[in-house]
Parts: sequence; C-alpha cells; structure tokens
Amino acid sequence: MGHATPHREPQRDVSRRVAEYLGSAERAPLFLEGDAAAVLAEIPDASVDVVMTSPPYWGHREYAARGIGLESDRDSYLANLLSVCAELHRVLRPTGSLWLNLGDTYRSKGLQLIPWRLALALVDDQGWVLRNHVVWNKVKGSPDNARDKLRNLHEPVLHLVKDAARFHYDVDAIRSAPGQTKVVKGRTVSATGVSGVRYRRKIELSTALDEDERAAALEALDAMLTAVEQGEVSDFRMVVRGSGRVTHSDSERVSGRAKELRDRGFYFLRYHPKGAKPSDVWEIMPEDTHNRDGHFAAYPQDLCRIPLLATCPEGGTVLDPFCGTGTTNLVARQLGLRSIGIDLAPEYLVAAARRCAATHER
Ligand SMILES: C[S@@+](CC[C@H](N)C(=O)[O-])C[C@H]1O[C@@H](n2cnc3c(N)ncnc32)[C@H](O)[C@@H]1O
Repeated sequence: MGHATPHREPQRDVSRRVAEYLGSAERAPLFLEGDAAAVLAEIPDASVDVVMTSPPYWGHREYAARGIGLESDRDSYLANLLSVCAELHRVLRPTGSLWLNLGDTYRSKGLQLIPWRLALALVDDQGWVLRNHVVWNKVKGSPDNARDKLRNLHEPVLHLVKDAARFHYDVDAIRSAPGQTKVVKGRTVSATGVSGVRYRRKIELSTALDEDERAAALEALDAMLTAVEQGEVSDFRMVVRGSGRVTHSDSERVSGRAKELRDRGFYFLRYHPKGAKPSDVWEIMPEDTHNRDGHFAAYPQDLCRIPLLATCPEGGTVLDPFCGTGTTNLVARQLGLRSIGIDLAPEYLVAAARRCAATHER
C-alpha cells in the first residue's frame, strides 16, 4: 500500500486468533494491531455480519501510527481505502452490511467529493449496493472563520450491502416507540391529536365529493378511528379531494395516491403501529472529549446504534477495521454482539480494550 507508514507486519497468529474467537462464545471484543488491509487478509471469507467504521479522512489528521489519510494525492488515498473495502467485501457474509462514515476534504478551495468518489467506485467497480446516504447532522460544529464558504455541520454515513436480495435488516429494532392514544371527553384521540372531528367536518362540507363519496369517506373514517382505538394503527392523516394539502404529486401517472383521490375522493396515510422508523438525517452531537485517550477523532456511540441494531443479527459479529478507541466495539459489546477491532496504533487499542472491559452487555 502506498500510504505514508512503514509497513507493519500483522501479528503472525492473527488467523488462528480470529478462528478461535469466531468459534467461541466470547463477547468481549478481539483487538488486532496492524495495517487494516494486511490484517483483513488473515480473516476468513464470509465471517462477519456488519462493518461499521470511520476511516481516516484525507489530509485531516496525523494519527499516532500515521497510516492512511496522509497520501499526497487523492487517487492514492482512494486506492488505499478501496483495497481495504475489497477485503471487507470478502470477509462480509452475503447478508452483510458496510456502514461508512467519511468526511470530505478541500483542496484549492474545492471540495474533493471524497465520499462520492469512493461510493461510485464501490458501487461500479466492487459491486456494492448503496442503500442509504445518511446525513449526520452534528448539531454543534467547530468555529470556522473562512469568509467565503459556509460552516460545515454534517458528514455522510453510507450504508452499503453486498447483496440487494439477501441483506439482513431488522427495521422493527430501530423504530421509535409509537405515541400513545388517549381518551378525551369520551373520544379516542391519536398521539398527534387526531380525533376525526375535523376530518368529519371537512367531508360533510365538501363540495368536491358527491353524496355517495361523502358517505363512503365517513364510513372509512369511522373504520380508521376504530383501528386506532384498537391499537391496529397508531396514527393517521386523511386527505380529502379538493381540500387541504396533498402529500403527493398531482400527476396520476406518477402517483397512486392521486389516482385514489380521483377514484374514491380520499385516502389515508397510516402510521406504522410499531412506531416510526428513523429518517436518513441523524442529529447526534459529536464526541465532546476531543482528545479521549490521546485520540482526536472518536465518533459518538449513538452513531453506531442504528447500524448495529438494524443490520447485525442476534449473536452476530461486527468489525471495525479503523477502530481507534473502539467506539464501534463498545456499542457492539453493549448490544451483546461479538466484535473485532483493527488499528495501526497500539496505544489506541490499549485504550479501546480498557473502555470495552469496563462495559458489559446491557
Ligand atoms: C477516524 S479514526 C477512527 C476513530 C474511531 N471511530 C473511534 O471512535 O475512536 C481512524 C483510525 O484509523 C487508524 N488507521 C490509519 N491508517 C490505518 C491503517 N492502514 N490500518 C489500520 N488502522 C489505520 C488510525 O490510527 C485511527 O485510529
């Protein structure tokens, strides 16, 4: 690899240690020191369920053991990351996922589109499928006194899978608890305050519905309110022809809802009874200890939760090939998952092991 580090030999017994770990009931993480691509080469095919990682960004920081990120040209940096990703593709099971948090870099005033250049190569050349581009909104950023650009407050987190037909995804594990319905003056009211009174009035006063459509809409509204009362639907919205804001395009060619509105005069938007799923914008404060254990770029534990909960099966194995102080491993440990962490810098691994030893499954 062409990065600015004298190549470190991986520990000689890596493949034996990995095989023993994967065959055991151990849940404390296994930490391996060395260059990510070289250590990964010792890990068997299809042995890991999820990779969650934040590689060094290009030209941002110099870590204790240097490593990737210090290349003088962009293409060498991308080539180094891509060879790690090719190994990740091999060690992941066909049901596996890769979650990649990677920031961009300015050169000669221009953003270099690093995450997108990498994503394009992963999809086009390595066969990954990009499922989501999550915007990590860091809520509070560092001051930026540049007079000719905005302050950066977000970073991408990319979710890629090996096989679009087989990847593991447990959406129920990441839903927020549904809001509770309440009874107000003898009437059931949904968590967001829908009692049906306004919709009923809207239907009764509608001049865009004929008599039969009005009767059908009122009947459907009653059935929906019963479903809310019985907990089959946690909440809903009703759109009635000719009134209010439609939530779709008006074109019946592109929207099934536009067609429903034309044919029946109304449609419902149902909330899932198990609660809403998270969006692709995550508001998570950055790690506030900017220099934890001598490391300057630890990411917050919350960044790892949705990825591990949604895409790692029970009893599965998580891997972070650039684990630093072991945040991914710590969250895996809390969730009762096995994990492997790789880093070039022995001092970070000491800190990571210390952090994880102090934590047990929750
Ligand atoms: C952005 S940090 C990861 C921080 C980590 N997510 C945490 O929460 O502590 C990137 C890490 O990659 C490591 N690194 C750089 N080049 C490497 C290489 N070739 N192989 C393995 N690790 C490397 C650095 O030592 C650094 O700890």
